[in-house]
Amino acid sequence: MAKNIAVLVGSLRKDSYNRKIANEMIRLAEGKLNMEIIEIGNLPLYSEDLDENPPLQWTAFRQKIQSADGILVVSPEYNRTIPGALKNAIDVGSRPYGSSVWPGKPGAVVTSSVSSLGGLAANHHIRQAFVFVDVPLMQQPEAYIGNSSKIFGEDGKTVVPDTEKFLQTFVDAFQKWVEKF
Ligand SMILES: Cc1cc2nc3c(=O)[nH]c(=O)nc-3n(C[C@H](O)[C@H](O)[C@H](O)COP(=O)(O)O)c2cc1C
Repeated sequence: MAKNIAVLVGSLRKDSYNRKIANEMIRLAEGKLNMEIIEIGNLPLYSEDLDENPPLQWTAFRQKIQSADGILVVSPEYNRTIPGALKNAIDVGSRPYGSSVWPGKPGAVVTSSVSSLGGLAANHHIRQAFVFVDVPLMQQPEAYIGNSSKIFGEDGKTVVPDTEKFLQTFVDAFQKWVEKF
């Protein structure tokens, strides 16, 4: 049976290229992995002061991650690092101390950028945080998608064939990675 994957999109922007890439990966994974975007834009900023009486949005988010078999992050780079909303989601899922929802869930990271660098720095910063919260990450293939504003066809949604081919390779490798766990 297809495993359930929580997809976290690091951009909150309505017309986000990363969200479009995530949606394309969801399409390419059909019948292989059940991927669903878990929204992170409504999560109050993490503070330990709220741990005793956590906001409902935190609890709902933690439950969704808890029930997933794996994690896929598709994110831009902000100022050479992780967008704040995504880092907040990782922090929310990691607490209260001793009750983190992340450990042991296989993960993968895709970054994209309008520049040619493809969010390389953010990709590795996301990986760094996931090392600490004990998410075993797929090492290869890596995904740094550059020139993200140019990879969509005329409908503005479907990616160009080369990128589609790469994303299919990535999704298929991720399926194999998830099934090892
Ligand atoms: C606050 C901010 C910081 C950014 N910093 C970077 C950066 O460090 N490296 C980069 O390649 N692009 C950077 N960009 C440009 C993003 O690649 C671009 O806005 C991209 O479209 C964001 O992804 P999205 O389309 O999914 O929202 C930045 C954009 C914003 C809004």
